[in-house]
Amino acid sequence: MGYKTLCLGFFCILFAYCIYSPVPENIEEPWKVRTISAIIKITSFLGTLCENMGLMKHEDVITTLSLVHFTKPVSDENVTVIDTDFSNIPVRFYLPKRKSERQRPAVIFIHGGAFVLGSYKMSAYDDLNRLTANKLEAVVVAIDYRLAPKYPFPAALEDCVYVTKFFLQEKVLAKYRVDPSRICIMGDSSGGTLAATVTQLLQNDPNFKGRIKAQALMYPGLQSLDTFLPSHQEYQHGPVLTREMIIKLLCLYVTEDQVLPQAALRNEHMPEESRHLFKFVNWSEFLPEKYKKNHVYTEPVLGKLNASYPVLVDSRLSPLLVNDSQLQSLPLTYIVTCEHDIFRDDGLIYISRLRNVGVQVTHEHVEKGVHGALSFTSAPVFLNLGLKLRDKYINWLEENL
Ligand SMILES: *[C@@H]1O[C@H](CO)[C@@H](O)[C@H](O)[C@H]1NC(C)=O
Ligand SMILES: *[C@@H]1O[C@H](CO)[C@@H](O)[C@H](O)[C@H]1NC(C)=O
Ligand SMILES: *[C@@H]1O[C@H](CO)[C@@H](O)[C@H](O)[C@H]1NC(C)=O
Ligand SMILES: *[C@@H]1O[C@H](CO)[C@@H](O)[C@H](O)[C@H]1NC(C)=O
Repeated sequence: MGYKTLCLGFFCILFAYCIYSPVPENIEEPWKVRTISAIIKITSFLGTLCENMGLMKHEDVITTLSLVHFTKPVSDENVTVIDTDFSNIPVRFYLPKRKSERQRPAVIFIHGGAFVLGSYKMSAYDDLNRLTANKLEAVVVAIDYRLAPKYPFPAALEDCVYVTKFFLQEKVLAKYRVDPSRICIMGDSSGGTLAATVTQLLQNDPNFKGRIKAQALMYPGLQSLDTFLPSHQEYQHGPVLTREMIIKLLCLYVTEDQVLPQAALRNEHMPEESRHLFKFVNWSEFLPEKYKKNHVYTEPVLGKLNASYPVLVDSRLSPLLVNDSQLQSLPLTYIVTCEHDIFRDDGLIYISRLRNVGVQVTHEHVEKGVHGALSFTSAPVFLNLGLKLRDKYINWLEENL
């Protein structure tokens, strides 16, 4: 009886939230997006509740709830799946079974989750990587880097760089029969941030220059200087993510100090000496006219925060902060942006800057799309958008890798 009442209560709250969550008009599958947004909001609310009651930290509650989506490394008729590690950093390999004379391409996969959540074990990612391995006859290596707040910046990045460099060794590539000239780095959301940074670091390192053939960035966040880009304002209440939720989680990658997220919400978190960096993220300069709409550019408010977080001016946190000469050397790039996504403009600005310096970019803009679609491709709620994006990405790899 108690259990049934609890379930009924939960569904009533979910239903109420769904009705209440506004979603943009021209969105695809609005009821599914409402349901996903509601589940995320309720989870976040439960997290805050548990934290305030002193039971468990906000992010631990979300992690615990997401464990139900975790998969074991299960091989199938086409692909051998193995969990192993490179110097204690867990990696999952997807190795095609089909015999082939040719060497294979490879994809290094970096999952999303705001640097705080997520794993390659999540069923949507497992499906994606399995399909990539099968369709492309590619070796896929997925990384479970260390997560914040237990391991703040730059732990996640260090792990991704380490695994990538380790994999790129001649003897490792030979072991998996990988063609060294056909390697792509891919990541979604904060995984896209990490993928962009790993690619920049390797391209600007004489020992690794030219080793990465392509990068694929799915709706990435690319800077933390300006939290008021037009898309941050338009989609501050969702769908899927809210600005408050995202700022709260992302700040944990820098610090657990509550002063930072509070300042970032007001967009008053950058230090005085960061003024010269704003030219790299100036939406008034880099956004196509269509997205500027009636937004008015305001100059940054600096020096309001007494605490100092040097990370905030580090291009390894905000890949948009590198100068044009460092961008110039970047490889073939695939970027997905979604119209109804708080991170839309981060992607659009990066595309403008990359194209300005002559980097070849394939831009997939999804008019009816929302953030995170690739992680909603399995039960209980899956989006057709996620399946479509997955197919488009794999097609692009087939043609370009
Ligand atoms: C194995 O590959 C074939 C051909 O691509 C496909 O039809 C089949 O569904 C795959 N099996 C699994 C378990 O994915
Ligand atoms: C941003 O761009 C606008 C218009 O191009 C310009 O007026 C403004 O000074 C720029 N601000 C910064 C900080 O780069
Ligand atoms: C920042 O420091 C100044 C001078 O030390 C002090 O007057 C001000 O109250 C501090 N502001 C905050 C928000 O702590
Ligand atoms: C770009 O940044 C790099 C690294 O910070 C620096 O060495 C280089 O001089 C800069 N180039 C220009 C044109 O500013």
